[in-house]
Amino acid sequence: MLEPGEIFGQFPARPPQRQTCGSLQELQIHPRGIQLLCRQGCWSVQVLTPRLLRLRFSPSGEFLPRRSWDVALADEEWPPAFFELQESPTQVHLATSQVQLQIDRDPLRFSFRDPQGQVFCADLPAGLSWGSDDIRLVKSLHPAERIYGLGERAGLLNKRGRRYSHWTRDCWGYDAQSDNLYLAIPFALVLRPGLSYGLFLHCTHWSQFDLGQADPKQWAIEVRAPELDYYLIYGPTPALVLQTYTQLTGRTPLPPLWALGYQQCRWSYASAAQVLAVAKQFRQRQIPCDAIYLDIDYMRGYRVFTWDPRRFPEPAQLMAQLHEAGFRGVAIVDPGVKFDPEADYAVFDEGLAQDFFIRRADGHLFHGYVWPGKVLFPDFSCPEVRRWWGSWQRVLTQAGVDGIWNDMNEPALNDRPFGDGGQIVDIPPDAPQGPPEERTTHAEVHNLYGLLMARASREGLEQLNPARRPFVLTRSGFAGIQRWAAVWTGDNQSSWEHLEMSLPMLLNLGLSGVSFVGADIGGFGGNATPELFARWMQMGILYPLMRGHSALGTRPHEPWSFGPEVEAIARQAIQLRYRLLPYLYSLFWESSQTGSPILRPLFYEFPDDPQTYEISDQALLGSALLAAPVVRPGVRCRAVYLPAGTWFDWWTGQAQRGPGSILVPASLEQLPLFVRGGSILPLAPPCQSTAHLRRDQLHLRLYPGDGSFTLYEDDGQTLAYQSGHWATTTFCLRQEAHQLILEIQPRQGSWIPPQRNWILEPLGQSPLILADSGQAQQIRLPTPEGSRP
Ligand code: GLC
Repeated sequence: MLEPGEIFGQFPARPPQRQTCGSLQELQIHPRGIQLLCRQGCWSVQVLTPRLLRLRFSPSGEFLPRRSWDVALADEEWPPAFFELQESPTQVHLATSQVQLQIDRDPLRFSFRDPQGQVFCADLPAGLSWGSDDIRLVKSLHPAERIYGLGERAGLLNKRGRRYSHWTRDCWGYDAQSDNLYLAIPFALVLRPGLSYGLFLHCTHWSQFDLGQADPKQWAIEVRAPELDYYLIYGPTPALVLQTYTQLTGRTPLPPLWALGYQQCRWSYASAAQVLAVAKQFRQRQIPCDAIYLDIDYMRGYRVFTWDPRRFPEPAQLMAQLHEAGFRGVAIVDPGVKFDPEADYAVFDEGLAQDFFIRRADGHLFHGYVWPGKVLFPDFSCPEVRRWWGSWQRVLTQAGVDGIWNDMNEPALNDRPFGDGGQIVDIPPDAPQGPPEERTTHAEVHNLYGLLMARASREGLEQLNPARRPFVLTRSGFAGIQRWAAVWTGDNQSSWEHLEMSLPMLLNLGLSGVSFVGADIGGFGGNATPELFARWMQMGILYPLMRGHSALGTRPHEPWSFGPEVEAIARQAIQLRYRLLPYLYSLFWESSQTGSPILRPLFYEFPDDPQTYEISDQALLGSALLAAPVVRPGVRCRAVYLPAGTWFDWWTGQAQRGPGSILVPASLEQLPLFVRGGSILPLAPPCQSTAHLRRDQLHLRLYPGDGSFTLYEDDGQTLAYQSGHWATTTFCLRQEAHQLILEIQPRQGSWIPPQRNWILEPLGQSPLILADSGQAQQIRLPTPEGSRP
């Protein structure tokens, strides 16, 4: 975190002369906003919606043209938004129906006000400055503000107080102090009671947020780019901020249902026989599982888009056998293409012939070292290269592979062969990239390497298999990665600290628009203890992406590898995950519509309760389930904070009233879990795979109180939902003196579920069976004394 100069007690070396913009010289009014010509440079303010403003500063006064790889919706795509301007000798005021921007004329600076007049995101006087290769803007932070998001970040939930740069990198061995990880998202969500806003720094170059490290009251934004470009997103709730942020950068499309099941990975199941043996174990032991992964050893000498002829001689047969048993197969694909001129390796030959690989500034091919030895890197910023890469996936899809796992796409490379004392390096920043008409350098698109690879992968799958919903998992990414792939948090470790950290990491990813996320269950590096593994499986139920994985050379980490007691705990956890699938699938749908995270910090639902602001070890799955996983060894009870309302213990049904903290038992078998009063939880009958999911009944757990829930359903695998083949059913629950009234609203959409029954399970009462007619129904259920909220 310290700059080298600081370690030795020297003053950090900053260029002595920094430029500032000075006073406002001329105001120009445009249909979508204004331009402010300063003594030096020019600001542009675009009003995109009443809650969304884009602010750009260019020292030269010229603004850069839009890039084909831009991750944000173009300004022209927003319908015109109304704004008002007022000018005084000292200020200019620009107001939308939601937010007011105050512009001081001399020196020029901005501050925002919410409808109550509260100031936020205000520039310091002369907060803008620039040197020869950077631009800095310093804003003030309110004492009550907490800061979240920032993509993939180690450590606890609130990111205020530290400095974070945005630069994707391979970070094996990361810990709570690490700065750059695999994925970079320069987006921050700021919260204080009654007010939340987001700031998205629209910059793919290296950039940095100092969130109060240099000065606790200041937020310094720095870019090493020719202009400063950011979006200000007003809430006032975190949910509204995310809604707008994901309108701008995209949302997670509905994944196939199988991708919500348990997924098993290992570096590596090294032969078809091993893969089948693992699959068999799952079924024999009755541990539900939907997917098995193939890590790098399925390839011939780590050449992408090949199969090892000895260990995987009949990939199509292997996939057919997996499918037969209700499993899907996911295969890893790394970006580095083996430098292999003599070997008739078509991926290399074609890529070279068409000049698809990145070259150095001097025109020579750039190479680094990854698993296959010397490799070349496709330039995914060219649409042609993405199409070519996407179509090579046919080698996998033709064999029946169901999903693609993109790894090492930061990109990760060494300057010498692996195991030869080399170090991690970057592609040189001056390496030319991009299609001829928008040539740039690696410095501008480095952060996009993983995102553009994932895009190539997803678009390729859509082409190869138009009838199927694609599944892509990626390690690296940038803002907007949610449109293309699910994300996992890379090479974590089998330690309690990593178990604990996984929750805030995933929560902050969700708050950065990336809702389909998971961490390797059990920890990737090192060996989990039986107790750690049991606790991790319980935590894993909450991960939107529930995948177990472990590194080469570690002991086995399949759910049965830690003895019968832990196996039973893992089974129970995974079974619970499968029962929750209808609920989870509806949350994924909600996320695809609104950008809401699936796994949420407590403050997301209770933004005016400051008690929730620093809670890193509890989370909500949707708005109904509150979990408080155990993240320390030997712990058999823990404190749980319950926000306002009534909460029912999942295991005992006992009611608790929040706000307040309680002590709850947490035996090794039990994940502390609570259901919000008034919840309607749709549960599936138990099953071993989503391929075997029974559709003739759906359980509805009903918890006393008032609430509603919309169940979303479709065929779970095709794109037919995009043309109306989906069904939603809205349930409303109302608590009256001695009865609970459930209203089922008429089913919407054109997907028709098979004939089935609702099995109503009011808390503490015997179940009631009701045919699902698709029509409106109302049911009155008596509530027993003890269960009333
Ligand atoms: C990287 C990945 C890991 C994978 C390994 C081998 O370390 O993060 O998940 O197993 O490479 O492919």
